[in-house]
Amino acid sequence: MDAAVLELFPATARVDGSELVLGGVSASELALVHGTPLVVYCEETLRARARALKTAVGGGHVAFGTKAFANVEVLKLLRSEGIGADVASSGELAFARAAGFSGDELVVHGNNKDGAFLTEAAAENATVVLDGPDEGRRAAAAGVRRVLVRVTVGVDADTHEAIRTGHHGSKFGLPPAQARELIAGALDVGLDVLGLHVHIGSQLADFDAQAETIVRLASFAASCRDTLGWTPRVADLGGGFGIRHNVDEHATDAAELAATAVETARTAFAEAGLEVPEVWLEPGRSLVGPAGVTLYRVGAVKQLPERTWVAVDGGMSDNPRPQLYDAVYTAVAAARVGEGATQRVSVAGMHCESGDVLIDDVFLPAPERGDLLAVPATGAYTLAMASNYNGVTRPAAVLVRDGVARLIRRRETVEDLLRAEVDDAG
Ligand code: LLP
Repeated sequence: MDAAVLELFPATARVDGSELVLGGVSASELALVHGTPLVVYCEETLRARARALKTAVGGGHVAFGTKAFANVEVLKLLRSEGIGADVASSGELAFARAAGFSGDELVVHGNNKDGAFLTEAAAENATVVLDGPDEGRRAAAAGVRRVLVRVTVGVDADTHEAIRTGHHGSKFGLPPAQARELIAGALDVGLDVLGLHVHIGSQLADFDAQAETIVRLASFAASCRDTLGWTPRVADLGGGFGIRHNVDEHATDAAELAATAVETARTAFAEAGLEVPEVWLEPGRSLVGPAGVTLYRVGAVKQLPERTWVAVDGGMSDNPRPQLYDAVYTAVAAARVGEGATQRVSVAGMHCESGDVLIDDVFLPAPERGDLLAVPATGAYTLAMASNYNGVTRPAAVLVRDGVARLIRRRETVEDLLRAEVDDAG
């Protein structure tokens, strides 16, 4: 296998003869024992990424964007590294609670938090990010004590438009004048308004937009000092650091970007004549994405004049990102990594629509039914967004370390699919 492709895999990935080995366990063994599709998470990579981000923010708080992969065992592991959790629904909060998170480890998000969610957040004594005009009053009434205020400072991030959030007109947060009113209202009802929150988008191509956002945030903070006599003790800069899914994609190391963000905030706030706030981050993808590899089994190969189709036993139900965001993935033949990748193929999913193409264009050894494909950088927003389309059961996930694979989510069964059905005749 090409060394450049190996770099997309988790830190423990290596080639042993013809086999791809992850966390000391061969891909063939993982597939044999746990079936396919299977998402394999590398514990060492998760821990190393958590530590690096934590170190980069110094005394600041790092809350995992749970939406990237809500899994109790992964959440426990991240918590053991001192990482908190950002949750955006009662369901995500339930995952975080099951993993032991509480109090100021929790940051609660949402552009439409219902009363029950606010009450649950208050019961956990979580930090709630206010997102809309009357949310301060509603949060206080629910018993919430500590809040941040989400502001959109009008920066257009360079990423897919579906995951861009910091521009004016975004459904998230409020532009400066309204955000100031929200802060004033929150202070009036006695909330501890810890600071400000921004999140301009996900899978950001570079740091430029984030740097500009931090500068604008500092100037917004200065306007709050001048008009309200209030200044932020915390600047939560959200998530967004990009990762590499294929060899042509560029991404700067997340911990490096986190350190740059802290430095940029320090300079920007000092230049605005303000106390430098504590910097918080909410990385999702950059924590878990590179730690995950999906294994698929090839069930059919069609050599057509136009192209060669390699059909796998999953697709848009376990990874809808190619359809939603034009995401470009790559793959290797996990039990034939010693062979040259000689044939250009397209990897099709098993779903009943032509758009279900997992990888449009990739070189593999001449493909055969029964081959195992490994798709790197699939630890974020894959299982998290998986569906049961076509009555397909969602995959299992394992955590590998030192030659041992531990099941962290079992494969769904057909009984799971039928569980929510109502049989009126019954
Ligand atoms: N904080 C907030 C308030 C967010 O909305 C998000 C992501 C994050 C943190 C984490 O961002 P990350 O570090 O993962 O970029 N399903 C899409 C991504 C949606 C991101 C939504 N918000 C995808 O598959 O690309």
